[in-house]
Amino acid sequence: MIEFIHPADDSETRLTAHLPAEIDTVALGAALARALQPGLKIWLRGNLGSGKTTFTRGVLRGLGHAAKVKSPTYTLIEPYSVSRLNLYHFDFYRFNSPDEYLDAGLDEYFAGDGVCLVEWPDKAVPYLPAPDLEIVLQPEANGRRADITGQTDAGQKCLIELAKALRGANPAPVSE
Ligand SMILES: Nc1ncnc2c1ncn2[C@@H]1O[C@H](COP(=O)(O)OP(=O)(O)OP(=O)(O)O)[C@@H](O)[C@H]1O
Ligand SMILES: [Mg+2]
Repeated sequence: MIEFIHPADDSETRLTAHLPAEIDTVALGAALARALQPGLKIWLRGNLGSGKTTFTRGVLRGLGHAAKVKSPTYTLIEPYSVSRLNLYHFDFYRFNSPDEYLDAGLDEYFAGDGVCLVEWPDKAVPYLPAPDLEIVLQPEANGRRADITGQTDAGQKCLIELAKALRGANPAPVSE
């Protein structure tokens, strides 16, 4: 089930999706792929095992990347050049201090027009730039729940496009 809320005053655009199984997490990522624009910065929050890498695999599948998607837990970053976009997948779980973000020279990725998807972004605050979209994944009785908020104009536009993509795939459950 998908709930989409887009207030008239653009205060906070929010989409909630209930994801009963892994394939639903992948499908939501693939739907987001259709709504991506260059330069979007996306934070993926949620505890260990909540589905952040699974969701990113869905985004990459949606962009046409058929090969393996590795978790960047040890490498910090996995870069992809796929269809019309550069996509950078980060995982900062292993940072002992946010200074490691600067030491690794990762800032330049966020200054460019690649799409950045970041697991464990809180580990790089305050140096990490603010996100356009924030996605919070959490377990629920039946699978996972994803709460997505648009934090900038670009993020809100992306979320509206995502809602359209989901409505096309599954007309009934979207409410505004
Ligand atoms: N909607 C879902 N329902 C049930 N299981 C799911 C769902 N989505 C993903 N999973 C499962 O959750 C497990 C962990 O997923 P994943 O590795 O993507 O988590 P993660 O958030 O990236 O974890 P980490 O913080 O360790 O990187 C996987 O076994 C995956 O199949
Ligand atoms: Mg992960």
